Parts: sequence; C-alpha cells; structure tokens
Amino acid sequence: MSDTFRKPVRKAVFPVAGLGTRFLPATKAIPKELLPVVDRPLIQYAVDEAREAGIEEFVFVTGRGKTAIVEHFDTAYELEATMTGRGKSLEPLDPTRIQPGNLVTVRQQVPLGLGHAVWCARAVIGDEPFAIFLPDELMYGSPGCMKQMVEAYDEVGGNLVSVLEVPMEEVSSYGVIAPGAVNGALTEVKGLVEKPKVAEAPSNKIVSGRYILQPEVMGLLETQGKGAGGEIQLTDSMAKLIGQQPFHAVTFAGRRFDCGSKLGFVEATLAIALDRPDLGDEVRAMAKKMLG
Ligand code: G1P
Repeated sequence: MSDTFRKPVRKAVFPVAGLGTRFLPATKAIPKELLPVVDRPLIQYAVDEAREAGIEEFVFVTGRGKTAIVEHFDTAYELEATMTGRGKSLEPLDPTRIQPGNLVTVRQQVPLGLGHAVWCARAVIGDEPFAIFLPDELMYGSPGCMKQMVEAYDEVGGNLVSVLEVPMEEVSSYGVIAPGAVNGALTEVKGLVEKPKVAEAPSNKIVSGRYILQPEVMGLLETQGKGAGGEIQLTDSMAKLIGQQPFHAVTFAGRRFDCGSKLGFVEATLAIALDRPDLGDEVRAMAKKMLG
C-alpha cells in the first residue's frame, strides 16, 4: 500500500464532556472520569494507554464542570513544593505529567452526541490521523489496547476500531460491525451500525471505545445528521469511510471493563486491585473472608 492513510498517529481525542448522571450523587461536583479505580482516576488509565501507544498530543473535549480533569494533568506547584519540603517522593504524580503544550482542551458546548464531540476537536487534529479513547471503557492488558491497534495500523493503515464479542442480546447498546475476512486479530469491516435492534445486528462484534481514524472523518461529521437516539453518531460518519479507505477491526487481547455502569466499575476495581502486586494478596484474603 502507498503512504496514503498511514501517517503516524500522534494525537488523541478524549471525549469527556458527559454529565455522568448514572453515577449521581458521586458525580455532582466531580467529573466521572476522575472517580478512582483503586488509586488512579479512570481518565488516567486511558491516558497511560495512549502514552504507551506513542500518543504525544492529548485533546480533551470537555464541558462545564469538567475542568478538574485538566487540573489533574497540570503541574501542582504547591503540592509538589510541599511534598518535596517534607522529603516525600513525587513519583505518584509521574503519570499526570503531560509535556507543556501537549494538552489541549476544546469545549463541546451542547451535548449533541459522540460524533459532535469528536468534530469539536477538528481544528487541533488538522490533517493527521488520530486516536479516540472513550475513557468509560477501561481496557486492561499488556500491551495495551491502543498499542495493539497501532501495531495493526502499521500493517494495514487506514481506519481501525477495537472490537469484542458480547452476547447477542446486548448489541443494541453499542456500535456493531459487519465483519468481512478475518486474519488473526484483524477483521475487515464491511459495515457499521449504531445501536441496532438485535434482529438487525450484522454480528455480535461491538466497537469498544478505541479508534484510529483518518482526518477525512471530520469532514463527514460536519454534515452528519442525527442518528440513533437523536444524536450525531460517530459510527454513521465512520460507515461512510468504508469502501473509500481501508477499515479494520482489532480484537483486543486483554480485558475490558465497562466503567460506564456501576457493576462494571466495581468489577474493574476488584479485578485491578487483585492484580496489583502491592495489594493483590491482601485484597484476595479480604474478599475470601467477606464471601465466607
Ligand atoms: C459509544 C459509541 C458506540 C460504542 C460505545 C462503546 O456509545 O457510540 O458505537 O460501541 O460507545 O462504549 P455510547 O456508550 O456513548 O452510547
């Protein structure tokens, strides 16, 4: 393949303007992306995954009441000075450091849907391919989901989404792919539908919140009409790229936790606590005792 559709992926968009109503009252004054899974806010897992995949520029699509997310990735001079004065290590703050100038925020003033949120980042993305991370989806594994996708991108270029299989009765909550040829973890994408009825779903392979897209999608989003749920859907504009540009799905080798739901959030917390070398043994013993 030529060099078209294979420029390196350096920028990532994080749509974080949502109100988080499912987690009220916790999210009344705190953005849901800052709720901690063990000792890191949810957004931190996505940013760590992005960094591991080589992302250099972080674009947060925020809204009113969400500025604490940006503070989290800022230098906290007083905190650092006080900690240093007390002889404390600054290492716990390492993951929150983003190179000056590499954190950009844009506002999504109106909640018109994911497609609209992504489109709000168009001026920062320009004519480069970019990644998208939906931080509610906590993708847990090594290498991380985006790194696995970037490796696939180096082979096939174009557009990529991460997918995983869910029971057929759950597909209506997601974007669903119509799969073509399968080659290991890579599946050709022949079609995409947002929140289909179970009977109309082309498969049970759902889009799980990680994307690498070519910049042309921004032009399509510009005029994208409302779709499922009356929202401007990213899926609908991506579907228009199929046939114009390469489009593949990557099945993530790892675990996915749906932190958009309470159950998924608890599951993530427990699974990651059990997996942590500093906590796992004690958490396991505690859980065993609790469960009798
Ligand atoms: C969004 C996307 C959908 C995707 C899902 C993953 O839906 O529109 O295609 O499958 O995220 O979590 P939402 O959860 O915003 O309804």
